[in-house]
Amino acid sequence: MAEQYILALDQGTTSTRAMLFDKDGQVVATAQKELPQIFKNPGWVEHDANGIWEDARQVMAEVVIKANIPPYKIAGIGLTNQRETTVIWDRLTGEPIAPAVVWQSKQSVQIAERLKSEGLTDYIYQKTGLWVDAYFSATKIMWLLDNVPGARERAEKGDLLFGTIDSWLLYKLTNGQVHATDYSNASRTMLFNIHSKEWDKELLEKFRIPDTMLPEVRDSSGIFGYTAEYAFFGIQVPIAGIAGDQQAALIGHQAFNQGDVKNTYGTGSFIVMNTGQDIATSTNGLLSTIAYSIDGQVTYALEGSVFIAGAAIQWLRDGLQLIKNAKETSELAEIAREQHIDPIYLVPAFTGLGAPYWDQNARGAMFGLTRATTKEDLVRATLESIAYQTRDVLDAMQDDTNIAVTNLVIDGGAAANDYLHQFQADLINTVVKRPKQLETTALGAAYLAGLGVGFWEDMTSLPKTNHLELKEPITERQEQVQLAYKGWQRAVQATRLFPTN
Ligand code: G3P
Repeated sequence: MAEQYILALDQGTTSTRAMLFDKDGQVVATAQKELPQIFKNPGWVEHDANGIWEDARQVMAEVVIKANIPPYKIAGIGLTNQRETTVIWDRLTGEPIAPAVVWQSKQSVQIAERLKSEGLTDYIYQKTGLWVDAYFSATKIMWLLDNVPGARERAEKGDLLFGTIDSWLLYKLTNGQVHATDYSNASRTMLFNIHSKEWDKELLEKFRIPDTMLPEVRDSSGIFGYTAEYAFFGIQVPIAGIAGDQQAALIGHQAFNQGDVKNTYGTGSFIVMNTGQDIATSTNGLLSTIAYSIDGQVTYALEGSVFIAGAAIQWLRDGLQLIKNAKETSELAEIAREQHIDPIYLVPAFTGLGAPYWDQNARGAMFGLTRATTKEDLVRATLESIAYQTRDVLDAMQDDTNIAVTNLVIDGGAAANDYLHQFQADLINTVVKRPKQLETTALGAAYLAGLGVGFWEDMTSLPKTNHLELKEPITERQEQVQLAYKGWQRAVQATRLFPTN
């Protein structure tokens, strides 16, 4: 067979990128576009859904041109996406009724609070594996139906469709032929019953969401549809894999065994443990979710979602203008560690706190400032906050599952940071493994699509070429680091005692 490739489209919170992978799982070419963030009101984060589609189409074409290969050599397309982000569009025109409400956005906080005050927390958790929060799609849909003029009537007439970004892009790629999603994305909506594996009729009724709006839920791997003429060089290419980005990263690591754990340091930080066919229950604020479904077999996961990780480094760069680029931070943090033993703490609760705290009202704070505090200390505190939040989740995970995490694989942009890599290993006192190819999310989507079209025969025949770089915990630092963690826990508590509203 002439050489073929898989195209992965990774539509994330801050960028849209396309990557081409060969049979060995190696990246052949990449194309990327930054995604503008819309901050209309404090706490709101929105995206232009049409803009996302335009960017997607553009980067998909660009990556093929960059690789200098004929488009018919693309055997399949895998989609992976920022999860929960909610788009509602007109069934006939394909026009969104409003900007996409991003997972971080807070316009539906009051709706989430109301559901909690009605005593529905456990009921919803039992069905969906999710703790009620504005983070998930359900309250975003409710908010849009209540606040966009005419939306509820149109939805009730069956004229509107809902989708997370995967569904939206699939709909656009197939020129409105396919309205579907995969199990991993469906499990993030707070409308999907992860036990019966279907949209939950009782929840839909309670939330007043018409079921005609919902996409069909399918296996993560398999042919969803084909690119329409205008979408991809005028040819029909199968869209053969879909998964939410955090689950795709798990797949990219080939973390297929029960107990395997990965952490992606992206905008947020998402720690996901494969729990196999078991739905783990959490008493520590973690989410039970669907990792993927392959050949009709659903695999579950336990997840700790931390809202701000790489976004805190972005804040140092764009908000405070303390650094020029993220690359500098490793060295600056190292300088701070050499200068000052006592750390300062940053609790980056910029959009509330996710797992294991789930505090929508918390806001960021800093502790331990003195006149000797330097820019380097601030950078160090920012990097360390990412590792501390990861430790919070891993402790909760071990407590919930009784599975000791004996090694952690990492990926995402900030995983490239050596200071963070080492500090994470020290803090959890466990080896932390970093793959050479950090684009694990796109790789996971490529795996799903490749399996869907027979590019790779089965899960055991996926390439094993992603070499790992290991950091062992440094024994001499243990006492100091563990003490610092106690300080972090106090800082989080203090932050929560000081709500801003
Ligand atoms: O749940 C939100 C998550 O999917 C966002 O991921 O990589 O776009 O920050 P990312």
